[in-house]
Amino acid sequence: MIVKGPLTSISLAILAVVTSAAPTSPLNARDASSSNGTSNNGLTDKVSWDGYSIYINNEPLTLLSGEFHYYRLPSPDLWTDIMQKYKALGFNGASFYFNWGYHSPKRGVYDFEGVRDVQKALDAAKASGIHVISRPGPYINAEVDCGGFPSWLMNIQSTTRQNSPEYEAAWSEWLTAIDKKYLVPNQITEGGPIIMQQVENEYSSNVSKEYMQAIIDKYKKDGIVVPTSFNEINNHSQNFINGTGAVDLYGWDNYPAGFDCSHPSKWGTDAIKTYREQHMKVNPDKPQALYEFQGGSFDPWGGPGYDNCRTMVNEKYAKIYYKNNLAQGVRIQSLYMGYGGTSWGGLATPSVYTSYDYGAPISEPGLMTPKGYEHKIQATFVHTLTKDITATTPFDVDGDNDALVYNGLQSVHSDTQFIIVQHNKSDSDNRDEFTVPINTKDGSFTLPRNSTLVLNGRDAKILVADYDFESQHLVYSTSEIFTHQSLGKMDVIVVYAYEGEDGEFALKAANGSAKATDGDITTSSADGVLQINYKHPNGTMPIEVTGAGDKDLLLLVAGYNSATRWWAPEVSARERVLIQGPYLVRDAKVSGSTLSFTGDIDATTDILVVAPDNVRSFRWNNKSVKLQKQSNGIWKGTLTFDKPNIQITDLSKATWKYKAGSPETAPDFDDSTWMVADHQDTNATVAPETKPVLYADDYGFHTGNLWFRGTFKGSSDITGLNVTAYSGDGSAWVAWLNGKYLGGYDVGSQVFKDLDLTDDDNVLSLLLWTTGHEEDGTKDDRFKSPRGFTKVETLGSNTTISWKVQGNLGGEDLADPVRGAYNEGGLYGEREGWHLPGFDDGDWESATIPDDKNRTGVSWFRTTFKADVPKGYDAPLGLTFEDKSEQRYRALVFVNGWQLGRYANDLGPQKTYYLPEGIVNVNNGENTLAVAVIPLDESSQIGTLSLEPYLVLESGKPNVGLVDSPKYSKRK
Ligand code: GAL
Repeated sequence: MIVKGPLTSISLAILAVVTSAAPTSPLNARDASSSNGTSNNGLTDKVSWDGYSIYINNEPLTLLSGEFHYYRLPSPDLWTDIMQKYKALGFNGASFYFNWGYHSPKRGVYDFEGVRDVQKALDAAKASGIHVISRPGPYINAEVDCGGFPSWLMNIQSTTRQNSPEYEAAWSEWLTAIDKKYLVPNQITEGGPIIMQQVENEYSSNVSKEYMQAIIDKYKKDGIVVPTSFNEINNHSQNFINGTGAVDLYGWDNYPAGFDCSHPSKWGTDAIKTYREQHMKVNPDKPQALYEFQGGSFDPWGGPGYDNCRTMVNEKYAKIYYKNNLAQGVRIQSLYMGYGGTSWGGLATPSVYTSYDYGAPISEPGLMTPKGYEHKIQATFVHTLTKDITATTPFDVDGDNDALVYNGLQSVHSDTQFIIVQHNKSDSDNRDEFTVPINTKDGSFTLPRNSTLVLNGRDAKILVADYDFESQHLVYSTSEIFTHQSLGKMDVIVVYAYEGEDGEFALKAANGSAKATDGDITTSSADGVLQINYKHPNGTMPIEVTGAGDKDLLLLVAGYNSATRWWAPEVSARERVLIQGPYLVRDAKVSGSTLSFTGDIDATTDILVVAPDNVRSFRWNNKSVKLQKQSNGIWKGTLTFDKPNIQITDLSKATWKYKAGSPETAPDFDDSTWMVADHQDTNATVAPETKPVLYADDYGFHTGNLWFRGTFKGSSDITGLNVTAYSGDGSAWVAWLNGKYLGGYDVGSQVFKDLDLTDDDNVLSLLLWTTGHEEDGTKDDRFKSPRGFTKVETLGSNTTISWKVQGNLGGEDLADPVRGAYNEGGLYGEREGWHLPGFDDGDWESATIPDDKNRTGVSWFRTTFKADVPKGYDAPLGLTFEDKSEQRYRALVFVNGWQLGRYANDLGPQKTYYLPEGIVNVNNGENTLAVAVIPLDESSQIGTLSLEPYLVLESGKPNVGLVDSPKYSKRK
């Protein structure tokens, strides 16, 4: 469908005929047709499609979605906050992985209460008008424990992710639980936000088509009628487009920058310029979909940290790669992640640490980022021009600079053309000048006509030509468009480029003229075209144009930084108001003559507002603000930021209590109530070298720290002990013999010699710090890799060791179902409830933090703190460790009983832990902080702990209620 050379009006006409035929080739056998000529899956026509895009309620749209994991933000009211931010940043969709393991601590047990209330998460999306792609797996990957499988699934015999009755019985249990009560009733057909449901995840090699089909059949049986979708890895195997296991809306995943944040200026792959070609080969009748497209990156234990990931996948990456997706015809794009959040407790797989900030558009504490603003700019453009950009066909553009790539897109509904320009090498840092020829109804031109058009290094531009907007006709613009709107007696358009770049904006105008009261412009008129030339300012320059369209036009030319702070919230369907300045604008409403905004500011902020004619007064977060109307129609004023007096306990001055917490190391410790470890067989994927099996999961203990105690008779023949620990990246273990410290290690083998043995019973105590279970991306049951010891043997004599194992209180029968399966492990203090609010530490020793003593074994420290954030402010709190010590130690952080951090002084990189409001009481209530310190070296000293907000905002965020955090009561 590619037409060579610049388009003439004849070739345009041919193009229109030829290309409109392309997407309506014969229907897939399973597809039904809707009255408007689109296709659907025969179960509902509320979501339908053609070869360009999906349609929702018969309206075509470009879906710009972002991945969101409710389980990575254990404070349900903040889900509403994040969905409002999605909306503000131009996302009209969110992709939700539902995490089986998060809801099912034990076979047959499914919990959707409290922080697991998925209805609340779906309601939050719906309240912000966000369409949801639901992805219940059963397998999800997602850097979560077992890739989202429940830990109890480790103990089944069958290989998972294949067709097998045993596995199917298990996943059917999950789908029944989530589908029937939550996903089915929240479909768009029932008034809910769900528009698609994904089948499995990146199920791309070594596949069972029957297994895929079984999941689809199960969805249908449960009552899922929205289209099914599937995310192939890249576009490798082209499975599930047709035949057994085929879904309705097939698509791809791609992470072109890769995941190595330690080289942030390096992008793994150039923006892929062959998507369209590949798509047309395999799936031309359906929209082109990228169900996961790189929105950031995860970071491993010991990694460079999320600031680096944010630099790697930054706003420049967003400019190039997301615009390239548009150029390639992608009209369903879901960024992984939109908001990353926190892998609190034991939620993480070993490849990541607690923070899952991901360098995403919205940061872990819910803050705006440059990439978030860039997403808003692009998305506002796409949604404003949705009709024209959602259905396009490509044409060739003959730009003059070979270092650049030019993609032409022709709207199938109008004459509008888009020219997307990027570097051939996506990571080129060169600044290149270029010209492009365009053919419009008002003449053929080479752009720019008399200025310079540049593409900076790591930049991409979308130029628009031949575009009818409001009462105007744009001949072309070399500035990019943010949005436009007719507001009362005038039309308004906001355009932008980097500060100092030339811009040319040309309108059809028989007798037009333009003036700028505040900036230099030049204008010229010829052949019915009014051309305006300017430089993009620091800030925004208003230009008043008369005599072009039926109405006057207010042309707002913004420098890029100023553009990041323009917002265009909708006050009704397709009717936007404009506001420049604030850090965040969540929402706008017109009622009578009052325009009310909800949003956040980080400082006293000068604002510009363009509003409908009838608006006379303004409110910001329910307070009236005085704005002055300028002669050009812009209202100006200031939002005052009153710095709040936020009181937060200084942890270095707090009263700290200390208690030693590893009595298990003592030879005479009473482990009579512990579980005997005597299994001879296992379904784990790593065979034990000695028996009994010392894999905690086989005994029902799945999370956090694990204890193993082995007792054996001493003899002079025993010359040593040979021990091999098995666990994931970042794990560690510590050994004691008869109460004496032997050493602390990364996982792997150790031989201990010169043992101090008694003739009688000797006790080997092993503490294993785990970092979660593996995923199963490889489809070989890798998630069944054990956590424990593959070998423990005496050297010199084959002595029997009898074993006991201990993990979290209750094992799969959770002692604390409210905080759930991943919250606590097998430390003595966790089992006794020392981490819980209300636990009486009155008889504990006094201590200071930073500690002034070197302590051996597990140490617990407790204190309480208060934070007083006045109403109307948001001050997301972080807890920061600062350690000068070189000692290798690990720590668990509990706030009000919730495990919000796993700290590794010896690995890093994470030092600051996000404490979400709701878990923390920020209204001057008492919060309990408990920190368990686990030295790998013989002893260690914890450094400084401090509490500080990431940022202070005057905020229109929703009210955040306290999360139910049960207090201590005697356990067992
Ligand atoms: C994808 C996978 C996601 C997530 C991502 C990396 O391949 O589908 O679940 O693991 O990689 O963050």
